[in-house]
Amino acid sequence: MTPTFGLFLVSATSMAEFFYDLIKDTLIVKPCKKSPILLMMIVLLLAMLCGVLISSICLKQINTNTNVKLQDIQVIDKPPHGINPEQLGIPRVHYPEPQTFSRDECVHNPVRFFAILSMQRSGSGWFETLLNSHTNVSSNGEIFSKLERRQNASAIVDTLDQVYNLDWLSSASKNQCSAAVGLKWMLNQGVMAHHEAVSEYFSRRGVSVIFLFRRNLLCRMVSVIANSHDRYAKLLNGTHKSHVHSPEEADILSTYKPSINSTSLIDDLKQVEFTTAKALEYFNSTRHIVLYYEDLIKNRTILKDVQKFLRLPVMELTSRQVKIHKGPLSMHIKNWDDVSKTLNGTIYERFLHTDYR
Ligand SMILES: *[C@@H]1O[C@H](CO)[C@@H](O)[C@H](O)[C@H]1NC(C)=O
Ligand SMILES: *[C@@H]1O[C@H](CO)[C@@H](O)[C@H](O)[C@H]1NC(C)=O
Ligand SMILES: *[C@@H]1O[C@H](CO)[C@@H](O)[C@H](O)[C@H]1NC(C)=O
Ligand SMILES: *[C@@H]1O[C@H](CO)[C@@H](O)[C@H](O)[C@H]1NC(C)=O
Ligand SMILES: *[C@@H]1O[C@H](CO)[C@@H](O)[C@H](O)[C@H]1NC(C)=O
Ligand SMILES: *[C@@H]1O[C@H](CO)[C@@H](O)[C@H](O)[C@H]1NC(C)=O
Ligand SMILES: *[C@@H]1O[C@H](CO)[C@@H](O)[C@H](O)[C@H]1NC(C)=O
Repeated sequence: MTPTFGLFLVSATSMAEFFYDLIKDTLIVKPCKKSPILLMMIVLLLAMLCGVLISSICLKQINTNTNVKLQDIQVIDKPPHGINPEQLGIPRVHYPEPQTFSRDECVHNPVRFFAILSMQRSGSGWFETLLNSHTNVSSNGEIFSKLERRQNASAIVDTLDQVYNLDWLSSASKNQCSAAVGLKWMLNQGVMAHHEAVSEYFSRRGVSVIFLFRRNLLCRMVSVIANSHDRYAKLLNGTHKSHVHSPEEADILSTYKPSINSTSLIDDLKQVEFTTAKALEYFNSTRHIVLYYEDLIKNRTILKDVQKFLRLPVMELTSRQVKIHKGPLSMHIKNWDDVSKTLNGTIYERFLHTDYR
């Protein structure tokens, strides 16, 4: 606080006190029969003066306080390195009253709201089946893949309301005894386009965000191209499958070796990184954790962390999905020499040296 401001504060306060005393004295004065209107005018005038003074003092104080607070938040809310659920605060608790059914015996069980924010081919399908293997988790899938549900902010809010009121019925619904309810939402399905409305909604309704990204964006690119190839090639006896449940099916799908456009490769990778960074920035004030597919595969403790993050009773989670690509990445890219030459010596060189697991 600058000395001038301090002086102003003192003098303003004493002036306010002075006026307050004056008002008090005036009020104590017995009703003057001669000119009650004049008296009232004086009181009103003094009150107004007093109000102006006090509010100017308050404004000054609020200004200094907000500055301090913003700085504090920036220090506290640094994006977490790794996961420490205890540091992330407690998720808000809800007791939804669905219109489509009664929660019966679980009516007194609290429910937590979550959203898995991810990108295509980042393991979110697999991750969601793991979550849904929990008796108390209802993750309703990629409901925003339908355009009309994300055409504008109000369509998004209506859809989210249905999900979090437990009125969205899907094969994943655990209905009465859901303790955590949510959905899987790809960043290109309206999250980024309507990020202000979405993050406002998440804060207002206490929705926690689970970010799921892939560390190796080159592996992801192979998967994206292979999956979109299979959309028309339909390698599995004429049906397109994005996720498979047997090693045989995985082998068939992985026989297709995509060739990657090395001209646009660096820009494409940059674009994905940029989108990821933007998403983290847009939701930096929402309660969240950041997961990476590669870490989840190696380390099942992370699944326990996720359950703790959602305050669920911790269970062993299972999925029947099988990985499609295995072995060194060089085996899965047709123009590998081209790609490795392009990335050699760049910040993305590390993507070349990881095997699929
Ligand atoms: C959150 O992101 C906004 C920009 O969207 C930025 O202005 C703000 O400083 C960030 N806050 C923190 C705590 O990182
Ligand atoms: C938002 O989209 C929905 C569904 O497409 C539509 O029915 C509604 O009229 C739209 N509302 C506004 C405000 O544009
Ligand atoms: C989880 O679901 C079971 C029924 O499947 C129920 O008995 C239990 O109370 C639920 N737990 C929570 C924390 O809601
Ligand atoms: C494709 O169809 C053949 C014959 O119907 C069957 O033996 C084979 O298992 C099928 N393969 C897959 C991957 O579904
Ligand atoms: C590869 O990317 C470049 C730059 O974006 C583009 O001009 C070119 O047409 C692309 N090639 C193919 C085969 O898609
Ligand atoms: C697995 O993840 C947990 C945090 O979730 C971490 O504490 C532990 O060190 C990790 N273990 C390995 C082997 O990386
Ligand atoms: C990367 O570039 C260096 C020299 O710039 C070369 O020695 C090395 O063989 C290259 N690696 C690959 C995988 O192309």
